[in-house]
Amino acid sequence: MGILELFKGVLRKNTKILALARRGRWMVELLAADFVHPDKFALFLKLRPYTMIGYKRLSSVYELARKIECEKIPGAFAEFGVWKGGAAGCMAAVAHKARSGRKVWLFDSFEGLPEPTEKDGELAADFSSQRTSGKLKTIEKLVGPREDAERLLFSILRIPGEQVRIEEGWFQNTVPHVKKELGRIAILRLDADWYESTKYVLEELYEQVAPGGYVIFDDYGDWEGCRKAVDEFFAERGLRQRLIPIDGFAVYFQKL
Ligand SMILES: C[S@@+](CC[C@H](N)C(=O)[O-])C[C@H]1O[C@@H](n2cnc3c(N)ncnc32)[C@H](O)[C@@H]1O
Repeated sequence: MGILELFKGVLRKNTKILALARRGRWMVELLAADFVHPDKFALFLKLRPYTMIGYKRLSSVYELARKIECEKIPGAFAEFGVWKGGAAGCMAAVAHKARSGRKVWLFDSFEGLPEPTEKDGELAADFSSQRTSGKLKTIEKLVGPREDAERLLFSILRIPGEQVRIEEGWFQNTVPHVKKELGRIAILRLDADWYESTKYVLEELYEQVAPGGYVIFDDYGDWEGCRKAVDEFFAERGLRQRLIPIDGFAVYFQKL
């Protein structure tokens, strides 16, 4: 075993060291890329404790939201899988700064992930302690309290309440009630890990994504089920757009 493998092994066993290392890497990437962009730098310092996505993914969310504002693509910013609100807060901050009046919709159970299914593969089964019936029942993993997302959006970022809509509950229960009101979508950000959650949102809401809008798959390279759902959806709809890589795992595409 090489010294690097040994070091990685020690890190894997010690989650606190791992978290510290991740935070360190996040800060180094932020400093290297955005020290000369004071607005973005200050915003990202506020967002970091409220997101589990890496710097490159968050930076991509920021740039795509700015593009949507510059090009005046109509529709809301919507995130499915919000946790403590970091990525959603990023989109809300961009919309607020642009004074476009664009709405930001946050969808989450705020109870963590539901059970995966066999389509999500062995890693997901291990992660859920073999609860793989697909029930909409929390496995108590990745629980982000709604109060944390509200604190970030309303107290820290000072986004006006009327610009944000929070839909608490399983997507499969909330979407049918608000689908019509949600209307056009300029950014559809999917960050809910499992096959069923990803496929459901795509099937229900893809039609509502505006031409020129973006669809982001945070978990495409991380979770087997998410990748399966996206690939199946592309095949079923005969979509030919290229999935653009963000950091080797997350991807996005622009609806034509
Ligand atoms: C990986 S976290 C989201 C990370 C977040 N976007 C960020 O900026 O760090 C996944 C979230 O998806 C939510 N979630 C997953 N499947 C869901 C479903 N079917 N309905 C509602 N919420 C779901 C979980 O509660 C959890 O908060």
